[in-house]
Amino acid sequence: MFRRYTEATMEIGREMTPAETALTPQQIESIRQLRLDFSQLIMHHRFVIDEVLTKISILREESVHTRSYNPIEHISSRVKSPRSLLEKVHRRGLPLDTEIIRREITDIAGIRITCSFIADTYHVLELLIAQNDVRLVEVKDYIAEPKPNGYRSLHAILEVPVFLRSGPTPVICEVQIRTIPMDFWASLEHKIHYKFDGDVPDRLVGELTEAADAASELDRKMERLHSEVREGSVDVDS
Ligand code: GTP
Ligand code: MG
Repeated sequence: MFRRYTEATMEIGREMTPAETALTPQQIESIRQLRLDFSQLIMHHRFVIDEVLTKISILREESVHTRSYNPIEHISSRVKSPRSLLEKVHRRGLPLDTEIIRREITDIAGIRITCSFIADTYHVLELLIAQNDVRLVEVKDYIAEPKPNGYRSLHAILEVPVFLRSGPTPVICEVQIRTIPMDFWASLEHKIHYKFDGDVPDRLVGELTEAADAASELDRKMERLHSEVREGSVDVDS
């Protein structure tokens, strides 16, 4: 009952009456507090996205302005919905304690950066973590070590301060950096995974693995061509 009430009030934003729930006033008060803590948690993660997006767009605009090479093709971001955050909290067996959730669930704020070339993915991450208010918490390099299904991407957990009235507060943000072929593959794989509810038929699993190899080959080929052109070993007029 307690859990159902909590979820209902958080998801629907509706106050249930004590008669509806048969909760004590103390329980209702603690739930009100939890709701406040939860909305604050979500708000802080919206703020950290704003901070990191600003950093990324400064890097991007600076390279456009100086006509130097722009390594960033596309940026998207999202804050985890309260419903999927609660699902993950339950799945991971965590208590409904926002301090613990803040520490343990590192993808409440998510940013995805798409680059043209593999080298750019590492370069963008270096540019971000070189900033002295960005702390690198963890890197998972699924480009160097792809997942068994062929998933490739560079994942970084960053901690960045957001400047609240009470002072700077460090907040965690997950950044996924990948090339266009990696992104193309991951979005199709995600759709297929979702459609079959995780139980993807063997034939499609095999075809996805082949497609991942093809995406990887395309990345290598594009990178090689690009570096040949940049190093001037290819006559671009001929
Ligand atoms: P969660 O999967 O979020 O519980 O965390 P984790 O610790 O397993 O992190 P991981 O780095 O494996 O993945 C985090 C995110 O990367 C996911 O939420 C997806 O956005 C993406 N991701 C990871 N693996 C895959 C995959 O096989 N296919 C696709 N399409 N996306 C993936
Ligand atoms: Mg995972």
